[in-house]
Amino acid sequence: MITQTFDVQTVRGRFPSLERCLDGRPAIYLDGPAGTQVPSCVVERIAHCMLHHNANRSGRFATSREVDQIMADSHRAVADLLGAPDPTSIAFGPNMTSLTLQFSRAIARTWKAGDRILVSSLDHDANFTPWVLAARDAGVEVKTIGICPSDATLDMDSLDDLLNERTRLVAVTAASNAVGSLTPVAEIAKRVHAFGAELFVDAVHLAPHRAIDVEQWDCDFLVCSAYKFFGPHIGILYGRPERMQSLVPYKLRPAPDSLPVRWMTGTQNHACIAGAAAAIDYLASLSSLPELETNRRVRIVDAMARVERYETQLISSLLQGLLAIPKARVFGITEPHRVSDRAPTVSFRMDGKKSIDVAQFLGDNGVFAWHGNYYALPLTQALGTEPDGMVRLGCMHYNTQEEIARTVELLQSL
Ligand SMILES: Cc1ncc(COP(=O)(O)O)c(C=O)c1O
Repeated sequence: MITQTFDVQTVRGRFPSLERCLDGRPAIYLDGPAGTQVPSCVVERIAHCMLHHNANRSGRFATSREVDQIMADSHRAVADLLGAPDPTSIAFGPNMTSLTLQFSRAIARTWKAGDRILVSSLDHDANFTPWVLAARDAGVEVKTIGICPSDATLDMDSLDDLLNERTRLVAVTAASNAVGSLTPVAEIAKRVHAFGAELFVDAVHLAPHRAIDVEQWDCDFLVCSAYKFFGPHIGILYGRPERMQSLVPYKLRPAPDSLPVRWMTGTQNHACIAGAAAAIDYLASLSSLPELETNRRVRIVDAMARVERYETQLISSLLQGLLAIPKARVFGITEPHRVSDRAPTVSFRMDGKKSIDVAQFLGDNGVFAWHGNYYALPLTQALGTEPDGMVRLGCMHYNTQEEIARTVELLQSL
């Protein structure tokens, strides 16, 4: 059934790193939530840019014009990934954290004492602390939306309780990088907008698993990071064009004040931005729709639906395997009928074992997995798993059922 819908072996052939063996056995990459592996086509695009189009922008000569074109193409590619009609609504930066720190400073200039912002316990610290710091500097109140502890999902009643007329911004993730829980972004946007507030979405963890749609979700701002979706280390910020124009960024005087570059401080990493566009083309290539007759956005949406179907099978097997281990305690959604409400990312603990030791055991046996809190500190604090943290297994569409089975077998033997 898998091969009918998704040819994982062909996909794997595009990732040279997946050929790696340790002690004669193929390595198993379940560390994707901390950064995915990269297909050759992405690396080739980066190399090509550096070898043939290496110049700074806006010059009156060939290589500079080519870089301008590469950048314009990359803005368009990201707009297709996010479902944004206007490529000038997309800014690039070093990573999501830096973009969020920078953007939170700029928007906080518009807040005043008495205002309120909301962050969430489900989030990575990169969508939590920048807002807390900006609010502190602006003298604004911060409240934290809670989680439902039984399944580590966002508590929508808590959101309703905290929203009021003074709320200016809500920062929330689209998917937890620790336990995989998805959030109903479109529904959150509706509730947030009913109070005249704005919604800032962290889509870093969601991006390799589902289609993002900023128009349909009606979110005001969204961030993601290309190294989490098979690209290089580049951060991405989307904002409604009218807001990206009206807000005042921290920028240097000679730098243009036009969109989108007013939000892109300093000389950009042109080669890796070209690589981010290549990663988006890679995702589109997973679609079964004909390239010549279908536009890239449509192919991305189709590709992500295929990725979701395939990953759902992986996560179902992984959850089933983990739940059958008496010593394993799995966090987040575990019921088989609810797997579509989660990304294929699982965190668990083993009774009587430290998370670092479990990760070490897996690593020694060729399974790459993270331990600790993966910077999802708001969540691990809410779940009470600090300081030991958890062990995280993150499936990507390049993983296989055999890899899941071997990982579960290893954990059973612990
Ligand atoms: C959900 C989530 N948000 C934000 C970040 C931070 O992204 P970056 O490394 O691009 O700053 C991460 C990184 O792990 C993440 O998983």
